[in-house]
Amino acid sequence: MDGATLTKTAPVLILLGPPGAGKGTQARMLEERFGLVQLSTGDLLRAAVAAGTDAGKEAKSVMESGGLVSDGIVLAILKDRLAEPDCAKGVVLDGFPRTTVQAEALDALLKASQQQIDAAISLEVVDAQMVTRISGRFTCGSCGEGYHDTFKAPKTLGICDNCGGTDMKRRADDNAETVISRLDAYHTQTAPLITYYDQKGVLKKIDAMGDINDIAKALAEIVAPVTV
Ligand code: AP5
Repeated sequence: MDGATLTKTAPVLILLGPPGAGKGTQARMLEERFGLVQLSTGDLLRAAVAAGTDAGKEAKSVMESGGLVSDGIVLAILKDRLAEPDCAKGVVLDGFPRTTVQAEALDALLKASQQQIDAAISLEVVDAQMVTRISGRFTCGSCGEGYHDTFKAPKTLGICDNCGGTDMKRRADDNAETVISRLDAYHTQTAPLITYYDQKGVLKKIDAMGDINDIAKALAEIVAPVTV
């Protein structure tokens, strides 16, 4: 991987966790609070599917089944996004890396720009809660703000608190059946990265079963020192 705009001093943070752990919710809050760029491979892949690119066509059925898209496609998409100038501010990687191959490719990329991972933060949750979280999720189609039927409802039903948009969307892969496959993919292919980053000395763990704002505070304690 080459061509990224990451600079030597740009913070690099990774959020690890199963589907529904709150990676997207927290990455968005970190973006707003610390001026970092949320980089979600799930969002990038959904954009490729919507645009009907070759990568999107290949990814579509895999995503619908709850499996992982090939490392080649994901790495190409990530590399293109990292090359955009805003990433020089620093990034919160949300949903990437998900395999050892992806983690090693990220290491190579960072080494090339004399950069390092500041923290790989594992959001610790129990699987049973994840189906509830995911089946209640919806997102503002205009600004991307995430919501939940029970845990994070907009102040006025159907209207985005953030931008006033009314085009709320639910993801095609947010159904109980697919969530089981996504959880399985997480445990077999992604959870080993917890040990990978522990061995590198950058792993942090956060109890992510509590309130969204309490989790954000715990995350901020880790992130603030690396963004000064
Ligand atoms: P992706 O889009 O990354 O989905 P995911 O990992 O399955 O994670 P989610 O977005 O479902 O959950 P989240 O942790 O972001 O939770 P959120 O904050 O939304 O990937 C989708 C697919 O793309 C994959 O299955 C795969 O096919 C492919 N893909 C993506 N990246 C890939 C890669 N690197 N390699 C290969 N394939 C890849 O929260 C969920 C809900 O819970 C929301 O409604 C939220 O409001 C609510 N909530 C959040 N926090 C709390 C809390 N503390 N308490 C109560 N509710 C909460």
